[in-house]
Amino acid sequence: MDWGMRNRLSKLIQSDGHCFFLPIDHGYFQGPTHCLEKPAKTIEPLLPYCDALFVTRGVLRSCINAGISKPIILRVSGGTSMAGKDLANEGITTSIEEIIRLNATAVGVSIFIGSEYERDTLLNLSRLVNECEGYGIPVMAVTAVGREMEKREARYLALSCRIAAELGARVVKTYWCEKDFEKVVDGCPVPVVMAGGPKCRTEREVFEFVYDGIQKGAVGINLGRNVWQDSHPVAMARALQAIVHENANVEAAVEIYSGEAR
Ligand code: 5RP
Repeated sequence: MDWGMRNRLSKLIQSDGHCFFLPIDHGYFQGPTHCLEKPAKTIEPLLPYCDALFVTRGVLRSCINAGISKPIILRVSGGTSMAGKDLANEGITTSIEEIIRLNATAVGVSIFIGSEYERDTLLNLSRLVNECEGYGIPVMAVTAVGREMEKREARYLALSCRIAAELGARVVKTYWCEKDFEKVVDGCPVPVVMAGGPKCRTEREVFEFVYDGIQKGAVGINLGRNVWQDSHPVAMARALQAIVHENANVEAAVEIYSGEAR
């Protein structure tokens, strides 16, 4: 692996082998999102706890201070919306020149395995890998399910993650699942990061799935709504950082959260 690629990956996945990415890219298909109306304000108190920001070029340019010290993972797939027919019909939105110009540390692209657009989205991933590898820029594949949240089970997720890695993704972001999540991770030859999904009912639920996923081999998290839509986002971020980077268990995370939320 070339130095540039290793350098960028080391900015994302920390020296302890773990990572906490903060996604704020939701608007690219769902428009204004609760608690993300003013992205700069939302992320400001959370940045100290996360390792990278997952964001589109539009929000990056218009809302994020160029002096930011955190690495940027640029969301470069899109072209669909909640109002449209099929969320899976994504294309690549951002040129390689723009990716380089914006000084992205990595890029993120969604794939939709089993959908009508499976082939197109897999070829999006492949094309992006072809372009980005030449510049030492890692591609993170997002195994997306669109509206079909029931797809979040081990066999489907393992299939999606493995295919993403086979096509050249350097990191794969996927959902945690209750049963056999270790099979998802074990079947994927590149690091697996857990996505969050819609907000959980309680903070403990978030801590439980994050802790379980890390024990089963995920290298970290890419959690958005469960952080910045929480009633105490900073406490949430701090507690998650402790699970990801400090080996905290669920009880310790609850304690940290309660202490910070006071
Ligand atoms: C959407 C994405 C987002 O980055 C991510 O899933 C959103 O995070 P969360 O679900 O935790 O709010 O990739 O496909």
